[in-house]
Formats: sequence, structure tokens, C-alpha cells
Amino acid sequence: MTKIFLATGNKKKIIEIKKILSELDIEIYSINDGIEIPEVIEDKETFEENSQKKAVEISKYLNMITIADDSGLCVECLEGRPGVYSARYSGENATDLTNSKKVIDEIKEIEKEKSKNRKAKLVTVITLAKPTGETYSFRGELEGEIIDVARGTEGFGYDSHFYVEEYEKTLSELGELKNKISHRTKALKKLEKELSKILG
Ligand code: IMP
Repeated sequence: MTKIFLATGNKKKIIEIKKILSELDIEIYSINDGIEIPEVIEDKETFEENSQKKAVEISKYLNMITIADDSGLCVECLEGRPGVYSARYSGENATDLTNSKKVIDEIKEIEKEKSKNRKAKLVTVITLAKPTGETYSFRGELEGEIIDVARGTEGFGYDSHFYVEEYEKTLSELGELKNKISHRTKALKKLEKELSKILG
């Protein structure tokens, strides 16, 4: 069975991704298995570049096929912000709460001058890197709207403010269903389709 390392420090994400890839004939390892990895600075301008940088560096370090992702929220009226800065949008000591507040405050500021547009998307780019340096990247997007008042208790990041019209719920309220429709799932499904070809 092919061993693949999942390079993310976010334990909720590890659980989400493992569930999505659980049908495949691969063994997935992560920091939850006691494997230590160096920190990779995500200093690039795009999700693609950041996920590639992370996957390549960790794959070379562990000499193991590695999957890394970079994700974020892109709000239309904020010209795509917070984008690649989603995790630290409200500064060094950012929390999900302070990040969401900053996004909502900025949207409200814009709405003083422009008509209401709450459209947003969550974006993930997943990259699989081989220790030889070859990379394969896949993008997934989920469209929604930003709401002012948090709803739901599950998930992480901007989930409780990200409203999905089709289900009339936020991602936090959707719970398990999030894993069926999310940006990460869409990217992972694309990877899943190509995986046997990639692994040869
Ligand atoms: P990362 O680079 O993939 O760790 O994601 C950066 C940031 O984007 C996270 O800290 C969250 O704030 C946000 N984010 C990523 N994925 C999600 C999601 O599934 N729901 C809500 N927010 C997310």
C-alpha cells in the first residue's frame, strides 16, 4: 500500500481529509502519528504556489509522497481578500473569531458606499508532491455568502459565517454534510480521480 504524508497541522482538517480519502488503497500519515516536520512559511501570492511549496519541501524532507493544501476565503466585494491571508487576517494573534469579525467589519464598511454584495467562495488547492520534485495540483471552490451573525457549532475558520444558499445553512450548521460539498472535497475528488495514474 502506498504511504502518503498529509502535511497540515490542523487536526480538524486531517480528520476531514482522511474521511474523504478513506476509500482509497493508501495509508495516510500525519503529525497525529508522531511524525515531526519543519515549519514551511506560506509566503506566496497564490494558493497554488503555497500548496506546492509546502508539499515539495515536506516531501523532500521526509522522502515520502506528500499532500499539502492551501485554502482560504475570497470575498467578492473585498476584491478577493482575505485570500492567502485567511489564517492570519486579523494579525499575529488571530483567532477564527477575530478573523471573521475583521472580514465582516470590512464588508460593512464597503456597504456604506456600494450596494450589498455578500458573495464569497472558499478555495482549496491540493498539491501532491513526489520526493523527486514532481507536483500535481487540484483546485476546488465552494460558493456562498457571508452573514453577519455566526450560526452553527461545527467546523472551523469562517464556517459559521459562510452561508450556502442551496441548503439554507452555514457550513457550521451543515456538520457532516460539509464533507460532501466542500471546496476541499472537490479538490480531493479531482486528486482521487488521478491518483492511480500519478502513483503509476
Ligand atoms: P489553510 O491555509 O488551508 O490552513 O487555511 C487558511 C485559513 O483559511 C484557515 O485558517 C481558515 O481561516 C480558512 N479556511 C480554510 N479552510 C476552511 C474551511 O473549510 N472553512 C472555513 N474556513 C476555512
